[in-house]
Amino acid sequence: MAFKFTDKYLKSFVGDSDLSAVSDELESAVRTLEERNGAGNDFLGWVDLPVDYDKDEFSRIKAAAKKIRESCDVFVVIGIGGSYLGARAAIEFVKGNSHNSFKDGSPEIYFVGNDISSSHMRDVIKLCEGKDVCVNVISKSGTTTEPAIAFRVFRDMLVEKYGEKAKDRIFATTDKARGALRSQCDAFGYETFVIPDDVGGRYSVLTAVGLLPIAVAGIDIDKMMGGAAKAREELAGGDIFTNPCYKYAAIRNILYRQGKKIEILVANDPALTMTCEWWKQLFGESEGKDGRGLYPSSVIYSTDLHSMGQYIQQGSRTMFETFINVNIPDGFEIPYDSGNSDGLNFLAGKEMNYVNQKAFEGTVIAHTDGGVPNCAVELTSRSADDFGYLVYFFEKAVAVSGYMLGINPFDQPGVEAYKKNMFALLNKPGYEEEKKKLDKRIADIG
Ligand code: PA5
Repeated sequence: MAFKFTDKYLKSFVGDSDLSAVSDELESAVRTLEERNGAGNDFLGWVDLPVDYDKDEFSRIKAAAKKIRESCDVFVVIGIGGSYLGARAAIEFVKGNSHNSFKDGSPEIYFVGNDISSSHMRDVIKLCEGKDVCVNVISKSGTTTEPAIAFRVFRDMLVEKYGEKAKDRIFATTDKARGALRSQCDAFGYETFVIPDDVGGRYSVLTAVGLLPIAVAGIDIDKMMGGAAKAREELAGGDIFTNPCYKYAAIRNILYRQGKKIEILVANDPALTMTCEWWKQLFGESEGKDGRGLYPSSVIYSTDLHSMGQYIQQGSRTMFETFINVNIPDGFEIPYDSGNSDGLNFLAGKEMNYVNQKAFEGTVIAHTDGGVPNCAVELTSRSADDFGYLVYFFEKAVAVSGYMLGINPFDQPGVEAYKKNMFALLNKPGYEEEKKKLDKRIADIG
């Protein structure tokens, strides 16, 4: 693996003097993280997780993954937010978006409980027909509505199909003591994995939350932890100029103060679509509070150059881009055509990746000229260790960046607002007063 962060395209927007100007602030944010005395300091379990994790549980994860791989055709992963995005991101990052169609000895893996769509649920139920199924239900709180509904549906399906043996096909990842899911595990005897108290949902991909589904997909989780451990080591120490993670955190804040309100994460390979979704949760939930924070958005190039590319080139100048440039020469060449009816022979014999790289370079320059600053992470492979490294790079960057911004990067109080209203509207016991108020507001709206 080789990981590189570069700000070389950014020079006309953020220079060394800009970095020097925020260097003290950056150092103070790093100290706050290292000395563990900032807001949210009871959620810093992710910092040492790549080296300091429960080795017995890690072995149990591998054993469970083996058992699941041997006993099912379809593996259904139930979870939402931080209990979903990391696993799916990792699997697609390493294996691509079509992994479910490969006959590579891995079960098909479907994710449910990450929305409230009955048609999505029906589709996955249909995909399970006539197949052996195992389920991993993941919820840190053990009380989240979307996965709870999905678990009810799939637990019933397994019980109908396997009777008492259904419990051997259910694997739960949750809090060690609290929540309705924990009570169900205790009552029904499911094999259980624990989400550490000091690791928040969006920082949990390197716990059992992500590791079990990732291992079931046949991905080497030792290597993934190894990549994260490498990042932990390499991204400790140094300063705003030498530590890429600190530089990225500082650049984000500098651009924000220059009036940029949106950060677009750009990947030039659709295998990273879910990595972008994972990143959006990590950055959006960590920084979007107290009326502050860059709005994290994402695009896939060159696909979105044919749609959002227009806005990015010429729309309101409120954004910057962070590229993840996947640069993997793999020998896939564009064929020669003796008739050259499509006029493409100037590309014949060139690798597809070469064309992708030229698209990347051309876009970086065009967007710079259009007033959109950009920096880039370069990847030369999409391996498990690359993913582990990338995860740690972004987790540490958002923690430092969040402290520079003056917010708590580890809470998510805003997520509760919709839940309160939804529960009241659904007549959940305990929400009677809220329900009356909401009914009146709805009647007033007409
Ligand atoms: O980051 C978060 O805390 C949230 O997005 C949660 O991950 C999400 O709400 C799922 O929560 P839980 O794992 O408790 O079901």
